[in-house]
Amino acid sequence: MNSTPAKSVRNADTRKRFRMLCLETTCDETGAAVIEAPWFEPGMAPALPPVPSVVSNVVTSQIDLHGPFGGVVPEIASRAHLRTILPVIRQAMAEAKMTYDDLDAIAVATKPGLVGALVVGLSVAKTLALTIVKPLLTYDHIEAHLFAAQLAEPEVPVFPCLGLIVSGGHTTLLDCRTALDVTWLGGTLDDAVGEAFDKVASLLGLGYPGGPVIEKAAVAGDPKAFAFPRPFAQESRLVFSYSGLKTAVLRAYEQNRDKVADAGERDKLIADLAASFQAAAADSIAHKTKQALKFTGHGRLVVGGGVAANMALRKSLEDLCRKRRVSLHIAPMWLCTDNAAMGAVAYLKWLRGESSPLDCDVMAGLLRPDKPGKS
Ligand code: KG4
Ligand code: ZN
Repeated sequence: MNSTPAKSVRNADTRKRFRMLCLETTCDETGAAVIEAPWFEPGMAPALPPVPSVVSNVVTSQIDLHGPFGGVVPEIASRAHLRTILPVIRQAMAEAKMTYDDLDAIAVATKPGLVGALVVGLSVAKTLALTIVKPLLTYDHIEAHLFAAQLAEPEVPVFPCLGLIVSGGHTTLLDCRTALDVTWLGGTLDDAVGEAFDKVASLLGLGYPGGPVIEKAAVAGDPKAFAFPRPFAQESRLVFSYSGLKTAVLRAYEQNRDKVADAGERDKLIADLAASFQAAAADSIAHKTKQALKFTGHGRLVVGGGVAANMALRKSLEDLCRKRRVSLHIAPMWLCTDNAAMGAVAYLKWLRGESSPLDCDVMAGLLRPDKPGKS
C-alpha cells in the first residue's frame, strides 16, 4: 500500500472546514483519500472556488496480479478491490487522523471504468454515506484526472484548458470550460495509448506494465530505426489509433528477429523497436494535441494519466507548448496515475449543492457526442 504524505495538514484555523473521503476503483488501483477545503453555505462560494488540500492519499496497485496476463483482467480487478478497499480506507482515515464523524461527504468515481470494479467502489461509498448520514457525491474519473493538475498547482487556475488524458484506458482530448463543464473532442478508435505500450512490451517480452519498460529499453535505441505509422496525421479529425502501430511493431519484430546473430544484436533490435514505437506514439499525441489547441484556441494544456510519465511524450508536449505559447500543466506522478485524491473535484459539486441519490448506478463507458448513447 503506498501513501503520499499530506501536502498540507488540518488547518489550525477554527473556521469550519469541509472534509470528504474520496474513493477510486475504476480500474486496477484501489484508492482512498481524505481532502479538506473551506466550508461555504450553499450558493456562497466565490466564482473561483478554493482548491482543496490533500490530507491523506492511499493507493494499492494490482500490478502483480495482472502482470502474468500482460494486461488488466476485469474479474481479478473487481475481486482485488473487494479485498483491499476497506483496509485502504482505514489507512487513509488513520493517516488523516480523523473518524467518520469528521467527514462531511463521501465521494466516489462512478464512470468510466470496468463495471465490476466501479460497482465495488460505489457500493462501499453508498454504505458509508448511508451509515454516517452524509451526502454521496459521484464524480467522473476523467474530470478527476484533469483536476489533479489543479490540485498540484493550487495557486494557478488551470481551467479553462484543453485536456489530454493518456492512460491505460483512455487517449482523449477534451474542451474544458471549467473542471465540471467538459466536452469530449476526440479519442482513440481502438486501443488506448497506454494499452499499446502494454501490448508492445508484452510482444517484445519486456514485461508489464509496458510503459516504464518500453521507456527504459528505448534509451539505447534509435527512434528513427523503424518508420512506424502516425495514423490520421494528414487529417484534421481528432482521432487516434494504436492497433495498426502495434501490428507494425509485431511485423518488424518477426521480420528481424531471425537475422540477429547474438544477444547483443537482439538487445539492439528490441531497443530500436521500443524507441521507434515510443517516438510514433508520442508524435501522434503531440500532433493531434496541436490540432486541438488550434481548433479550441485554448492557452493552457492540462495532461493526466499514467502515460504522462513518459519523458519522450513530455518533451514533445513541452516543445509544442513552447512554440504555441501555451502553458503546460502535468501533475506529479502520484497525482497523474490513478488515485483517489483527484476525487477532490467532487468538492465543486458540493459547492453547487449537488449530491447523488443512493440508488445511482455506474457507467462503464464514456459518452461521446459523435455516438449519442454509446460509450
Ligand atoms: O493512469 P493509469 O495509472 O491507469 C489507467 O487509468 O489506465 O495509467 C496506466 C498506464 C499503463 O498502460 C502504463 O503502461 C502506462 O500508463 N505508463 C506509461 C509509463 N508509465 C506508466 N506509459 C509510457 N511511459 C511510461 N513511463
Ligand atoms: Zn485513470
